[in-house]
Parts: sequence; structure tokens; C-alpha cells
Amino acid sequence: MKHRALIWSLPTRIFHWLLVLYILIMYITSDEDPLLRVHAAFGYGIGVLILFRVIWGFIGPKYSKFSDWPLSIKEALEFTKNIFNPKVYAGHNPAASFVMLGIIIVTLLSVITGVLAYGIQEGRGIFAFLNSSFFKEMEIFKEIHEALSTLLLILIGAHIGGVAVDRVLHKEVGTLHSIFTGFKNIDAKSVNLSSLQKVVATLFLSVAILTPIVTLSFATPLTKSIYKPIKYDKELSSFVEECASCHTLYPPFTLPAKSWKKLMAGLNNHFGDDASLDEATRVEIEKYLVKNSAEHSTKESAVYILQSLKNYPIAITQTPFWKKTHKDIDKQIFKSKEVKSKANCKACHKDIEKGIIEDRNIEIPKA
Ligand code: HEC
Ligand code: HEC
Repeated sequence: MKHRALIWSLPTRIFHWLLVLYILIMYITSDEDPLLRVHAAFGYGIGVLILFRVIWGFIGPKYSKFSDWPLSIKEALEFTKNIFNPKVYAGHNPAASFVMLGIIIVTLLSVITGVLAYGIQEGRGIFAFLNSSFFKEMEIFKEIHEALSTLLLILIGAHIGGVAVDRVLHKEVGTLHSIFTGFKNIDAKSVNLSSLQKVVATLFLSVAILTPIVTLSFATPLTKSIYKPIKYDKELSSFVEECASCHTLYPPFTLPAKSWKKLMAGLNNHFGDDASLDEATRVEIEKYLVKNSAEHSTKESAVYILQSLKNYPIAITQTPFWKKTHKDIDKQIFKSKEVKSKANCKACHKDIEKGIIEDRNIEIPKA
């Protein structure tokens, strides 16, 4: 007689496949700066999923409950020793239990460090308020987040490897099938959800599905920026009148104070042009530039420009950071009639004259 039992309830399976989908999206969007918003939206979604899974680990059905997992080193050793003829576990075996726990913990930590990095580096999201205190450390948060995502890949590899081994050694149990159908071919007690479990699962899984959709469709605190557009003409009208007539108005935070002082001392021969000003206006603009220079900004671009400097060029396009971020752009684009010059930032950075240089505002003109 063949026995069959429902091991993974519907919510457990939906959780599993949503997590697979969302994590896949996270890896696809991780390297593309313009997709950071999508990355963040699904990151919050994963946060909700993991929160659900932790709660499910305490109040969920048998087999999904942490207390049901054989999380003991002794049992794990016993299990690996007898890998060809192991004790049959209806839910997770000891090796799988450790990998699952690892995946839950590392995913949770990835979400937390991701939201921290988003707040500190981009000044966006629920931790944006930490930007002003930790902006100098932005690289560290990013690196921890990346290290965790590598660790997660290793754990996912272990999980898939485990399922593959199980498929070869214990095909008859149907573990692989069970994550689709919920059923395993074993003699065990089937799960049965209580009303409370049904309510909790419906609530959390709906929120997990809605979170990325709402985050991408509306302006919510989950991606809100602390940086407001700056009205430079209101701050100092002479700055806009004198420094935006020949080219883009370069935001003061794009160069350090020393560079601005050097630039403002040589206006009579300014990149081959005469941009001289009367002394009062010159002093006024220099003061403004120095007061709002890169050293006084917590913005990502200011921090990176400063960190990249070895000397004090008077052109942003001469800073190592600028060269690095623009090195993959086709040289022809800078020469095209829409752009004309590397220094014509506003051709691509739509809001740069409001002090906003963000990946989502970049639009390279089509040649
Ligand atoms: C008479 C025209 C003119 C005026 C006025 C002028 N500039 Fe320029 N500026 C130039 C030219 C030309 C360049 C070189 C642009 C290029 O490389 O395509 C330049 C380049 C720059 C650059 C370097 C851009 C880069 O490559 O990163 C900075 C910074 C700059 N100007 C700041 C200022 C400031 C600040 C003022 C106001 C005090 C000012 N400019 C006023 C003509 C002018
Ligand atoms: C031909 C279009 C183009 C021009 C002109 C241009 N940029 Fe960019 N810039 C880009 C693109 C595209 C990126 C994104 C590169 C990436 O992330 O791979 C970028 C990235 C940046 C970044 C990094 C943004 C971030 O969040 O990582 C800064 C800062 C920046 N540009 C400043 C400037 C300044 C200042 C100027 C003018 C002196 C300028 N750019 C001129 C296209 C341009």
C-alpha cells in the first residue's frame, strides 16, 4: 500500500515560490543602478515574506514549525553517516533544517543591511534618517550587504544540491514534488490549518505581494528621499546668473572647497574663456561654493568624488570618480550634437541643476 501525506501547506508553498521569484529579481537588479528602485521594492517584499516565515515557524503547522525541525548536530551527523539508508523524516531532514535556518537568517540580515545601505547611501527609505550620521561609512554597509548576498547564494546552492541528492537517493518519497503539490509519499500525519493560521497566512502573503506593487506605483516612505530639489536661484541668484550662462549649473557639492577656490581665483582664464566677475560678486559666489562644497554634503556622489581625489582638479570631469562612472559611455555620445561636451551634464542628468544626481534621473540622449 502506498502512503501519502500533506506535508507542506498551501501558505508554505506560496511563501517558498514567492521567495524564489523575489530573490531572483534581487540578483537580476543588483548590478543595475537604474533598477535600484525595483531592487528596493522587492527587498521590502522579501522582508515581509521572511517576517511571515519566522511567525509561521512559531504558529504554523507541523513540519513548518521550527520546533519540529531536527536541529541537532548529533542527528545531523547520524543522518550524513547513514545517507544511503537514513531515518525517514516527513518534514525537513537535519541537513535541510540547518540550511533552511541559514537561509532564513541570512535573508533577514540581507534585507536589514540592504535597507540600511539604501538609507545611508542613497538617503532613501525608512533608514534615510541615518544618512547624516553614517554617510562616511556608506561603503561598509554596501559591502556587508554584498557579502551576505554571496553567502545566501552558497546556501541556496546547498539547498538545491540537497534536493538533487535526495532525488537520486530517495526518489520514491517525492521531496521535489512536495514543494509543488505539498504531498510526500510517506506514512505520516497530514497537516491541517486552523482558522488563525489561515488568517495570518492570507494577511502576510497578501502584504508580501502588494508591497513591491505599491512601492513601485506610488510615492511611499519606503523609497522617499531626504533630498529636496534645491532652488539655487533662491539661494544665491548671482550664482545662477553668472555660472549657468555658458554651461550646466554645477552643484557646489560636486567639488571640494580647495577646487572651488582655485577655480574662482582664475576666472579671467576659465577653460579658455574670460568669465571674470566684479570682486564683490566673485567673493559672494566663492563663499557660497565653499560653504556647500563636497565636504559639506552627505550625498553619495559628493562622498565618492571626495574619496576618489588625489589632488584638486577644477573640473568635475577630471575627478577619478567621474571618469570611472562614465567610462562605459560611448565616446561618440559626448561628441554628439545633443550632448556636445562631457561637461554638459544636464544633457543626461535631468535634475542636476536642482542639485539632484540620481540614477533614476539619467537619460542618455539617443544619437
Ligand atoms: C563665459 C562662459 C563661462 C562662464 C560665465 C562660466 N564658465 Fe565655467 N566653463 C566654461 C567653459 C567653456 C568650460 C569648459 C567646458 C567644457 O569642457 O566643455 C567651463 C567649465 C567649467 C567647469 C568644469 C566642468 C567639468 O568639465 O567638470 C566648472 C566646474 C565651471 N566651469 C564652473 C564655473 C563657475 C562656478 C562659474 C561661475 C563663477 C562659471 N563656470 C562660469 C565657460 C564659462
Ligand atoms: C552622456 C550622458 C552623461 C553626461 C554628459 C554626464 N553624465 Fe554623469 N552619468 C551618466 C550615466 C549614464 C551615469 C550612470 C553610470 C552608471 O551608473 O553606470 C552617470 C553617473 C553619474 C554620477 C554617479 C551617480 C550615482 O548615483 O552613482 C555622477 C555623480 C555624475 N554622473 C555626474 C555627472 C556630472 C557632474 C556631469 C557633468 C560634468 C555628468 N555626470 C555628465 C551620463 C552622463
